[in-house]
This record gives sequence, C-alpha cells and structure tokens, in this order.
Amino acid sequence: MTALLDVDLRAKHYGARRVLDAIRFTLAPGEIVSLIGPSGCGKSTLLRLIAGLDRDYDGRLALGGSTLAGISREIGFVFQEPRLFPWLKAADNVAFDSGRSGRHDRHALELLAEVGLAGYEEALPRSLSGGQAQRVAIARGLYTRPRLLLLDEPFSAVDAFTRMKLQDLLLGVARRHGIALLLVTHDLDEAIYLSDRVLVLDADPGRLRRDLRVPLPHPRDRRDLRLAELKAEALTELHAIHSF
Ligand SMILES: Nc1ncnc2c1ncn2[C@@H]1O[C@H](COP(=O)(O)OP(=O)(O)OP(=O)(O)O)[C@@H](O)[C@H]1O
Ligand SMILES: [Mg+2]
Repeated sequence: MTALLDVDLRAKHYGARRVLDAIRFTLAPGEIVSLIGPSGCGKSTLLRLIAGLDRDYDGRLALGGSTLAGISREIGFVFQEPRLFPWLKAADNVAFDSGRSGRHDRHALELLAEVGLAGYEEALPRSLSGGQAQRVAIARGLYTRPRLLLLDEPFSAVDAFTRMKLQDLLLGVARRHGIALLLVTHDLDEAIYLSDRVLVLDADPGRLRRDLRVPLPHPRDRRDLRLAELKAEALTELHAIHSF
C-alpha cells in the first residue's frame, strides 16, 4: 500500500548549520504519529518543510506518492498559537482559504459545530478563550478537507483539563474525517495517549532516534498502566539524548 506521507529528508541546513540529518519515515492513511525531542532539535522545522512553508532542503517529501512542492490543500496546519485574524469572525476565520464569508458557508459552520462552537460563528477572536480559539484553528485546519493535519504543540497554552478535552476532540475529528495526524508535543502523556507511533528525535543535528509503537486500541484509558510503561520507555530515550 502506498504511504500517505513519505519523508526522505537527507538534510536541512540553516546557513552552514545542519539542523536535520537523514530523516526517513512514512505515515499510513489515518495514522496518528507524535514527534518528540529536545528543544531546538528541529521538530517545528520538519513540520514546516512538510507543510511546504520552507522549500530549502535536500531530500524528497511525498504525499500519496506525489512529490510535495509547496503548500498543498491536502495538508492542514495548526500552530502553537491559534493565529486567527483578529478582525474576522470565527466562521470567517475557518473559511478564510475560500476567500468567501464563512457565515453562509455550510462546511465552515459544520466544522465549527463539530469542534463544539455552534453559536460562536459571529464571535471575534478576542472574545474567545484560549481553548475556544484553538478549536477554531483546528476547524480552519480541516477546512480544505486535508488528508494530513500537522499540529505544532497545539495545546501547550491551555490548562491541563482543557488539554485533555481537546485531545479527545482531536481524536474524534481524526477518526470521523479519516485523516492522519503528525503532532509535535513536549507532553509525553499526550504523545502516548494520542498516537499509534511516537518518533523520538535526537538533537544536533536532528535525527530519528526511535520509532516507538503504541499498540493499544482506542478509546484508551489514561490510567492504563501500559501507557505508563510506554511513557517510561520514551523518557529513557529522551534522557539518553546528550542535550536533553
Ligand atoms: N529561520 C531560522 N534561521 C536560522 N535558524 C533557525 C531558524 N529556525 C530555526 N532555527 C534553528 O534550527 C534549530 C531547530 O529549530 P526548531 O524550531 O525546528 O526546533 P524545535 O525542535 O521545534 O524546538 P522547540 O521544541 O523549542 O520548539 C534550532 O537550533 C533553531 O535555532
Ligand atoms: Mg518548535
């Protein structure tokens, strides 16, 4: 079967500095994969390359067998901060890509309802809580009906309780839309709870150190001791990294 995403990155440099080196992995359709590693190891850089926001690298990235050459509607992106346009209402932010108003756009309204924001279509970003704003950002990331959603520390700015709710919301969204997720996080519990696989990156330069499988079916119980065992394994890998 063709992989959904095929990453074969030989190198990424910033100036003379090599930040990513020989990173190879694939994502199957609908697969949920987390990327973890020390600060500065190149996680955001890797996501930006896959998103087509930076094309200066050596290697090949492919989606569904076709080489990626820039921004694709088949890939959505959710950043650490919601990055909503402050002058646009929630529905208009979601439908921004269409260039049309979102308030009469059925798809945008359905996505807002799906992330629990029915009734907030006309709300401006400044009137939303952090968790609500991030839900608008998730709805926007889904607007083009992508096959892959990239998320860079999407829940790091919300409290622990909201975070758990957003994680479950994200799992529901991924399942209903049949999309794959590639998520950067510093939260090991989050990585292991959500993912089918956790990729551990080394630093200086960023390399793939470990591809850890989480062979537990969903829905998962956060108290499951098998999750705790896998967390300990991931932690051991992280501590073995020199710069951690
Ligand atoms: N635009 C840039 N120009 C030069 N160097 C950069 C640029 N962006 C990132 N870097 C460097 O590349 C390395 C990787 O950065 P990146 O932001 O990808 O790390 P990260 O793994 O996402 O870190 P964090 O966990 O702190 O978010 C860092 O050393 C950073 O200083
Ligand atoms: Mg980062």
